[in-house]
Amino acid sequence: MRIIPIDKVKPGMVIARAVIGSKGEILLSSGVKIDETYIKRIKEIGVPALYIRDGNIGKVEYDDVISEQTRQEALKVTKDVMNSVRLSSDFDFKKVKKVVDDLVSELLTSKDLLIALVDMRAANEVGFFHGVNTTVLSVITGIAMGYDTKKLGQLACGALFHDIGTIMLPPELMKKQAPLSAEENEQIMKHPELGFNILRKKEGVSLMSAHVALQHHEKYDGTGYPRGLAGDDISEFARIVAIAAIYDNLVSIGVEAKRVLPHQAIEHLTLYSDKWFDAQILQVFIRTIAVFPLGTVVLLNSGETALVTKVNKKYPTRPVVRVFKNKGGRRVNPPFEIDLAKNQAYFVQNIIIDDEP
Ligand SMILES: [Fe+2]
Repeated sequence: MRIIPIDKVKPGMVIARAVIGSKGEILLSSGVKIDETYIKRIKEIGVPALYIRDGNIGKVEYDDVISEQTRQEALKVTKDVMNSVRLSSDFDFKKVKKVVDDLVSELLTSKDLLIALVDMRAANEVGFFHGVNTTVLSVITGIAMGYDTKKLGQLACGALFHDIGTIMLPPELMKKQAPLSAEENEQIMKHPELGFNILRKKEGVSLMSAHVALQHHEKYDGTGYPRGLAGDDISEFARIVAIAAIYDNLVSIGVEAKRVLPHQAIEHLTLYSDKWFDAQILQVFIRTIAVFPLGTVVLLNSGETALVTKVNKKYPTRPVVRVFKNKGGRRVNPPFEIDLAKNQAYFVQNIIIDDEP
């Protein structure tokens, strides 16, 4: 499988990894052959690229950091909680606890804790997927910071519901595209406090988790909201979730409605290191993301074109790649692999986004 930007996708290509809707539902399954109607629809919902099968390059094995079952369960619980809060300002914490515990224990046993896949998901509305992804990213960061299971559970709960306050705002407002009026912005900026008020009253939810909802829009330099807290006055959980949530927004919604690839999102975050974020936590976070995700087509310094087939936790910029085009642009048959961590003469020069399959 390889990543193909949507404007290079042609009828007849076969999907190698499912396209997910903003609520976590499967829009197009793996194995589906694409036609013009699908392409039009995928463009409409804002999916920037697809994982496509490429028989000439061969299979790429992958394991997600959490199982599909746990991800679906987390999405379902998030959805139930959101609905129940909308109706009664209350929710069933037992279900949340179970899914959070499952998620944390699965991440604790994941052997290769690196986010190595790009999500192919719709960006057309505020969805539940964002909460679950932000949670996975936050917990992985927490694990790297040496958190114990209890702390990871509290962090996960805060991350999963950091935006729960938005449920109390008018749905039309949440769907609205920028630019927003001053009053609309002011209304949206109330969601941290609204969320805090829901979570802090809930039995079983730690105050630490509730503070994530309250403080996830605070910035390290004190220019955030609602209180303009700075530095260590912002809870450590909220400092982690702020990074994870913005990263997830960058790769799913993008900068000025233009979605970016993981390495561009990391560059963007780095620009705001120390201004918006805790630079030390950001360093830890960055090490959990594969700079070159699986299925990325790259240009090597040798002039050969290759596909990333395995990521390397120790050396994130040196993945295992499968060379499928030579220096002159001719297909190599059969393709062969190079482990860049073991072959120091080779390195990735660039990501190629417009290679024709
Ligand atoms: Fe938020």
